[in-house]
Amino acid sequence: MYKILIVDDSEPVKEFLSFQLRQLDCEAAPAVGSTAISMAVKFIPDMVLLDIEITAVSVLDLIRELRSHDEFKNTPVIILSSRADKTTIMSAFTGGADDYILKPVNTGLLFSKIIGWQNLEMETNWTGITHNQGKALRLLKVIMDESFENLRKSAPLSAASVRNACELLYLTIEAEGAGAIVKAVAGYNTTLFLHSLLMCVYIMMFTRYKGYAKDDCIDMAMGGLLHDIGSVKVPNNILFKPGKFNISEYNDSGLHVKYGIEIMDKTPDLPQAVKNICRCHHERIDGSGFGGIKAEGICTEARIAAIVETYCAITAKTGDSDSKTAAEAIPTLMSFQNQLDPKLLEAFKEAAMNDFKSNLL
Ligand SMILES: [Fe+2]
Ligand SMILES: [Fe+2]
Repeated sequence: MYKILIVDDSEPVKEFLSFQLRQLDCEAAPAVGSTAISMAVKFIPDMVLLDIEITAVSVLDLIRELRSHDEFKNTPVIILSSRADKTTIMSAFTGGADDYILKPVNTGLLFSKIIGWQNLEMETNWTGITHNQGKALRLLKVIMDESFENLRKSAPLSAASVRNACELLYLTIEAEGAGAIVKAVAGYNTTLFLHSLLMCVYIMMFTRYKGYAKDDCIDMAMGGLLHDIGSVKVPNNILFKPGKFNISEYNDSGLHVKYGIEIMDKTPDLPQAVKNICRCHHERIDGSGFGGIKAEGICTEARIAAIVETYCAITAKTGDSDSKTAAEAIPTLMSFQNQLDPKLLEAFKEAAMNDFKSNLL
């Protein structure tokens, strides 16, 4: 779980932020200026939210002291402040802060900043991969950022850009294998981008393993990348809610499929497989999915996406524990026989235990 230290003199602000951060599945610890360092040493946060107006100690001294500890040299420090003047903002950045948010805190903005920093943290793990592999992953990131932005503006996606990024991934895997790429992204299922990237990579690997033609693999990978794109319009407190949804939240969460399809219908030249995956990736063979569609009504593309999505959830890193290996994850995956296509499940098991073993994980 992502850990965030909140340093603020105001109890109501700390309570409000702690509550909001729990919606994002983050663990929050409160502190005031005088207890911030001792709390940081005990709690070891992944990020610090620091109110610029704390009284017991100067913010710049506090950042300096924090940075003097090796484990906090690169910990993102986000300043919360009601001061919008350039001098204050610049002195915060030159004093070692990484980001700046104006009070009263806009929760959506705070969430997107945290998600951005989480993505960045994962990207630092892209150092073990080759130049071309890094280029492919970064292009996917750029294209997804563009797609998220398009969706926010209800503008059509660029099918050609998404295809180019997926084709570069295909060519890179063809030339250099997928082991390093999968190692770099495996288990990172926390943010919308990271989840979409995982889906894209695993779907591409599985369809290649199944012997799909290059263009079909790319179509399927595009579907993996875009399957949850409509989530951009779902409120963050629902999108990132840990644990189970109540009925109304469940229905709201299902809206991401509707929003995704709406934008895809406006997008020219998008392969049918992409729409199929978006429309039906939450449907289950026994009819227990969002739309209650049963076996015969669910296309193969969406059945594959449902298996890969379940695999992503099972292998996700949790807390401080590493991503599960294929061997550890497969027994749990196979227990979903009633919900996932049994034949494809067997094929996925074979792929994960053989090809995935030597080439992917
Ligand atoms: Fe998903
Ligand atoms: Fe989804």
